[in-house]
Amino acid sequence: MSTASKGLEGIVAADTQMSFIDGEKGVLEYVGIPIDELARHSTFEETVFLLWNRRLPSRTELESFQREMRSEYDLPAPIEKIIETFPAGAQPMHALRTAVSAMGMFDPDPNSVDPAQYRRKALSILAKAPAIIAAFDARRNGRLVTRADPSLSFAANFLWMLNGKRPTPAMERAFDVCMILHADHGLNASTFTARVIASTLSDVYSAMAGAIGALRGPLHGGANEGVMTMLNEIGSVEKVDAWVEDALRNKKKIMGFGHRVYRAYDPRATYLKTLAEQLSKDTGNERLFEMSRRIETAMLNAVAAKGIYPNVDFYSATTYHSLGLKLDLFTPMFALSRISGWAGHCLEQLAANRLIRPDADYVGPHDVAYTPLAAR
Ligand code: CMC
Repeated sequence: MSTASKGLEGIVAADTQMSFIDGEKGVLEYVGIPIDELARHSTFEETVFLLWNRRLPSRTELESFQREMRSEYDLPAPIEKIIETFPAGAQPMHALRTAVSAMGMFDPDPNSVDPAQYRRKALSILAKAPAIIAAFDARRNGRLVTRADPSLSFAANFLWMLNGKRPTPAMERAFDVCMILHADHGLNASTFTARVIASTLSDVYSAMAGAIGALRGPLHGGANEGVMTMLNEIGSVEKVDAWVEDALRNKKKIMGFGHRVYRAYDPRATYLKTLAEQLSKDTGNERLFEMSRRIETAMLNAVAAKGIYPNVDFYSATTYHSLGLKLDLFTPMFALSRISGWAGHCLEQLAANRLIRPDADYVGPHDVAYTPLAAR
């Protein structure tokens, strides 16, 4: 009989000093600071510094970190050329994974796991990820690529490169907050993937590409696109109750609900709900927000007893839509931010490394006679 813990639920596979989650109470902290505090007062750059150094930076340290990150915004010419060859119909997550992987071929010393080198390479991947998405989006729309602007924050530079115009301060802040909220979250599937790859002493490009692949699945980061597809399919507030009832009756998973760790409201969803409400009012997308709220009520009535609540992906869908993002850029948004968490975890893994290599229970037959090919 199998003794495997399906989905590794409840298995502690690493120590981390980055994020703390109390799934019963709905608490998330980065290095001990409640996520709500960071969403209110911090910036994405400062949050990355916090996660990678396990403390907040001084003003000079923050300025120097920002300078270092911003000096890495531009893509090397060969990567831009590779992106030009991507089919216009490709999905942005595939484009991001392929371009990050390709970056490894143009690094003269790609395999170094020296902590300072690894950190420098990780910062370069993080800083360039917005340019990859923006370059691919420009390419598929037949537009010229907008050059990165090192005077801008990570969030503002992404919006600038994507849209070719300066974001309003409100838009920049909303994106920045989304980046903060998605940066790290314990040993989720993509972070685990990154740590497994790092544990073999493979390179940072492989770890990040592997993690992007894990993130894009609909049960993980791909759920935010699933939420938007669901909202479009339902179409109106009046149809919500019947749709949810029917979906639950047919044992369908409702995207943006449920979590392996949270049995309470995901604290990131609490913050995103407020953001989504405000942005939907500002941009005339109240209908989407109202539908989301109705889905939440219907779900809470039906399944809250099972500990199923909205997760981070639920209200991020309305938020991203209100900010004018195309549907297939929702999951890349998640990836842009989570690269910081993956890299921080890889650095933690390397600092006290042991190959991650669990066991599998063999549940097949034994002592089977080999049948020659001609006799089969
Ligand atoms: N809709 C309806 N029922 C659900 C849902 C949902 N979204 N999530 C869990 N359940 C039910 C499930 O049917 C099962 O019921 P029963 O015990 O009667 O069979 C029970 O809750 C336990 O579900 P599970 O699938 O065994 O739980 P899990 O810990 O393996 O899955 C999950 C966690 C996130 C994969 C799952 O909740 C899900 O598929 N949610 C929808 C996709 C989603 O929103 N993913 C984003 C997760 S948060 C951010 C991220 O990681 O990217």
